[in-house]
Amino acid sequence: MLTFENPAISFKNVTKKFGDHVILQDLNFDIPRNKIVTILGFSGAGKSTLLKHILGILHPTSGTVTVLGRELETLTKEELRDFRRNFGMLFQYAALFDSFTAEENVAFPLREFTQLSEEEIMKKVHDLLISVGIKEESFQKLPSELSGGMRKRVGLARGLALSPDIMLYDEPTTGLDPITTKMVNNLIVETATQHQGREMTSVIISHDVKATLEISDYIAFLDRGKIIEYLPVGEFKNSQNPLVQEFLRL
Ligand SMILES: Nc1ncnc2c1ncn2[C@@H]1O[C@H](COP(=O)(O)OP(=O)(O)OP(=O)(O)O)[C@@H](O)[C@H]1O
Ligand SMILES: [Mg+2]
Repeated sequence: MLTFENPAISFKNVTKKFGDHVILQDLNFDIPRNKIVTILGFSGAGKSTLLKHILGILHPTSGTVTVLGRELETLTKEELRDFRRNFGMLFQYAALFDSFTAEENVAFPLREFTQLSEEEIMKKVHDLLISVGIKEESFQKLPSELSGGMRKRVGLARGLALSPDIMLYDEPTTGLDPITTKMVNNLIVETATQHQGREMTSVIISHDVKATLEISDYIAFLDRGKIIEYLPVGEFKNSQNPLVQEFLRL
């Protein structure tokens, strides 16, 4: 298994049970800083459960999850809420607020979590929207007036609003056409390398092997609550693990 010095995220002996049902099984797994790491797996493997442990929405039944050097279980509810500002999240369907314009969607976390003035917020919102390729003519549009690809862009701008150290992507390309998939992939890479001149750790949860092979630095394969393969992307493609091979052939 790959290990990294001073990782962004570290799972140590993490087991999660719901009743008698073991969902994560003794996971030992590090995610390095400033890289793009994808967690692949079949439906029901435990990917979303793993993601919720990174966010501290769920805690392990046993073992520890450490993010940016903080052991999540030792944080109080308030500390955890503050700590979540280190994360940006892009959900599968972008999860924008339907009755908010593009601009208002991106302003939301800034209004909620910062003391910035309205003028400062609007300046930042416009910079963010431009940086993900949304033009001024679309700032006032509602999500229903935007294409799927544009909604992703707005969702990404909102995820980036608080300058997170870690971006989490939940199925960013699932269900998108090939051209939009390519666009979202490019955005993920640009975000990882260029956002405000800082580097950022990106964690992608996906079933989309083809899309993620193109952009990931490392790929982990989760099967029934266990990481059964974790390799740099070039080696992952040549994995001899039969389940991984089956997945790659899909
Ligand atoms: N709160 C919960 N209570 C009980 N069981 C749960 C709970 N959350 C998830 N599970 C179970 O844990 C297993 C893994 O679920 P999870 O959602 O993590 O899978 P996944 O890999 O994200 O799947 P998908 O690709 O379909 O989203 C499933 O069997 C699910 O039924
Ligand atoms: Mg899931």
